[in-house]
Amino acid sequence: MPMAKEPRAWIQIGVDIERVERFRKEMPPSGHFFSTIFTKREIEYCVSKVDPPIHFAGTFAAKEAAHKAVNRLTTNRILITSFEVTHGKDGAPNVSYTGKDSETKKVDIKISVSHTTEDAIAIALATLPS
Ligand SMILES: CC(C)(COP(=O)(O)OP(=O)(O)OC[C@H]1O[C@@H](n2cnc3c(N)ncnc32)[C@H](O)[C@@H]1OP(=O)(O)O)[C@@H](O)C(=O)NCCC(=O)NCCS
Repeated sequence: MPMAKEPRAWIQIGVDIERVERFRKEMPPSGHFFSTIFTKREIEYCVSKVDPPIHFAGTFAAKEAAHKAVNRLTTNRILITSFEVTHGKDGAPNVSYTGKDSETKKVDIKISVSHTTEDAIAIALATLPS
């Protein structure tokens, strides 16, 4: 019996590391710096934490990692502001892509974030269905 043909999938990864200090020195979060990079929901999430710059760094790292991964799946230009990080009830981060790029609009992205008081790191795995 012939083997079923595997569906073709495109997978890429991305990683980013950020210094927390970069975000600390831009505080308070009401400033232009934050509103150009983060969505309202992302800002609300980070400022709800005891030390927001740590979470801004983690959120930014997640957006950059997702951008790197998705960028490798398309020839079109995509923007970091097209990615939004939200969190599940268990605190696990999710990222959505709101860009209009026809090559990647169905992309599925998984992310993981970790931080110390000084640095934040994130990795992303982006998958396109066949
Ligand atoms: C989530 C968890 C792995 C965080 O580990 P940690 O070493 O304290 O922190 P890290 O810096 O490595 O990671 C923090 C990031 O993990 C992510 N995260 C949070 N909850 C998560 C979860 N359930 N699954 C995956 N990732 C999670 C978030 O992005 C968080 O960053 P944020 O606070 O900016 O949103 C850890 O707290 C855990 O295992 N929680 C599960 C629930 C649990 O066991 N609760 C304790 C009951 S006694």
